[in-house]
Amino acid sequence: MTTVLSPAAAVGPVPTAPTAKAAPAPAVDPAHAPGVGGPSMAAARPDPADLDPRRALRELECWRADGRDAARFPYRAVLGHYRTVGKNAVGAELLTALRAVGPALSAPAETAGPAARLLTDWLPQVVDGTQGDYDSYLGSPVYASLARTGARTEEVITALLADLVATEAATLAGAPAGLARTRAALRALTASAGLPAGRESKGAPHTAQDDTADLVRACAAAVAAARDAASSGVLRAVELTLTPTTRSHDEQMFIRVIQIFEAVFAAVGRSIQAATEAVAAGRADRARELLEGATRHVAGTSGVFRVLTTMPKDAFAVIRANTDGRSAVQSRAYRTVERSCPELHSALLSSSVHQYELQSVMRELDTAWGAMKRTHWGITMKVIGKVRGTGGTAGASYLREAAEARLFPALG
Ligand code: HEM
Repeated sequence: MTTVLSPAAAVGPVPTAPTAKAAPAPAVDPAHAPGVGGPSMAAARPDPADLDPRRALRELECWRADGRDAARFPYRAVLGHYRTVGKNAVGAELLTALRAVGPALSAPAETAGPAARLLTDWLPQVVDGTQGDYDSYLGSPVYASLARTGARTEEVITALLADLVATEAATLAGAPAGLARTRAALRALTASAGLPAGRESKGAPHTAQDDTADLVRACAAAVAAARDAASSGVLRAVELTLTPTTRSHDEQMFIRVIQIFEAVFAAVGRSIQAATEAVAAGRADRARELLEGATRHVAGTSGVFRVLTTMPKDAFAVIRANTDGRSAVQSRAYRTVERSCPELHSALLSSSVHQYELQSVMRELDTAWGAMKRTHWGITMKVIGKVRGTGGTAGASYLREAAEARLFPALG
């Protein structure tokens, strides 16, 4: 049985669990309220049944006995336990039971319906234990399937931001440090969803409590509007793809931010590849439109970076200690962007489209991509300094060099 934790315990994984890493997580203030720098709500105020894996095990057993209908998979019970104890602390028994689910599904995912597809895409995220990679950390297969079914990138990003805003706003009462992050997340959400920016209330002088209450109200309204506009498939994907390795509140934010960036990288890669085809077909206008859209996506990450900069160093140290081998240096979507640009340029040189027709939009994309890389490097310096990365590179010096590499060096 999993050790029952004090709600205010440190946010690292449960130390007695069979699969917990041997290295102790850096210390976090054990008396911290849920929110920025402390435990997540699920960890601090758990449903007692989620502390223990037995509910998930029982429900999995019933699901198996009941015909293994993917649409009735007990996601809630499994995720409840994962989020309460942190993935790195989930015990061997539940991991073994989950690892048996994939082979037990009757039809291969390719031929099965959407529920079986979703379950197959989701499982890698909960069976990877402490040995997972970047893709299983963020739930890449779920988002890849969403994109294949035609979900719009803006819709996915807005739904992820809505979840982030809701999670941050829920902790505001106990964690004043969360105000800056919640404001930044709300601004990113309103920009992404095209909602009116929240306004300060006028009238009598405001107390800090009034400000917080105003912010919570503005968050609730923006989250409701964003969720109303999202499809059920997108909302479901967002709901299922949060399995932090620790009980840290900040890791939840970190995962959502990574998922947003991945959606951007994937969209930019698709746009560049489609622009290459448009160029080959002599359609300069179409290529320009695609590249302008890609630039807008990349430029839009500045608001998301503002959320990330609210990451306390100590909190990131906990995340880092628990996510070794899960670095974004493994991001295939990011590599696709960098790999596709030379192909676009050479297609341009051998097509009927004149270089000058696309030169400025290509430069704009290059500039936005470079600015994004420099911001990432700056945040890395601030949060971890010059230590090595979890992906095995030298860290900041590697990033500084990588930030200088241009997408279209031949443009001059
Ligand atoms: C506090 C936050 C972050 C820190 C300290 C950080 C740190 C690092 C480090 C040290 C590397 C070098 C590779 C390695 O050895 O791991 C790296 C690479 C990378 N990171 Fe981050 N990162 C952070 C947030 C993010 C976020 C939110 C994303 C969004 C997906 C991201 C995307 C990337 C990418 C794409 C690379 C590969 C860059 C390349 O090879 O050119 N990082 N990061």
